Amino acid sequence: MEALKKQAGIKAAEYVKDGMTIGLGTGSTAYYFVEEIGRRVNEEGLKVLGVTTSSRTTAQAEGLGIPLTSIDKIDRIDVTVDGADEVDPAFNGIKGGGGALLMEKVVAVPTDHYIWVVDESKLVDTLGAFKLPVEVVQYGAEKLLRHFAQKGYNPAFREADGQRYLTDMGNFIIDLDLKKIPDPIALAAELDTTVGVVEHGLFNDMVDTVISAGKDGITILEKKEK
Ligand code: A5P
Repeated sequence: MEALKKQAGIKAAEYVKDGMTIGLGTGSTAYYFVEEIGRRVNEEGLKVLGVTTSSRTTAQAEGLGIPLTSIDKIDRIDVTVDGADEVDPAFNGIKGGGGALLMEKVVAVPTDHYIWVVDESKLVDTLGAFKLPVEVVQYGAEKLLRHFAQKGYNPAFREADGQRYLTDMGNFIIDLDLKKIPDPIALAAELDTTVGVVEHGLFNDMVDTVISAGKDGITILEKKEK
């Protein structure tokens, strides 16, 4: 599995050219992309400016000496490479298994070419086997949990080290155990208008290219023109 993630991450780095502003994703697959960019910066003199999607990726990129800028200082990002937890055939996906969904979406939106790197186990027919992360403000979070429970969404606060998990932005995550999400567009619309929800892990129709690594090699899936 680790070898597949590495293959996908290194392949994605081929989309990065000199002079680009690039979004650096979070997670165990995006990790290899960031490592490869670091290698090229150091060994080949690649000139890029990175925008990170989590404190973890910031620490990794700083350690590698990748020059970074703030999302607030740039208008557009040429290429962002990130991981995903599930991707369906319509290029809707779930992200946020690593808790970085909010920063990841903020970086994805102004990106010209948005790429996901996955191993083939992430390609699914219907989203929802992976628990959907929903980032919520702390104030009223338990009320929101009860609201989701009443809707039958099987919610649970994410925990880490016996405490409620805190995102980089200081919010909680409620994971929804939905099993199947027949209409991700409708669910995203509902969550977008639920007060107290800061962001959710449905990234519908945002990704342009999915680089999938499997036992038979790399497959590159491109979004179909509409
Ligand atoms: C981080 O919050 C996530 O969105 C990750 O990008 C996603 O969970 C995929 O992570 P892995 O590549 O570690 O599976």
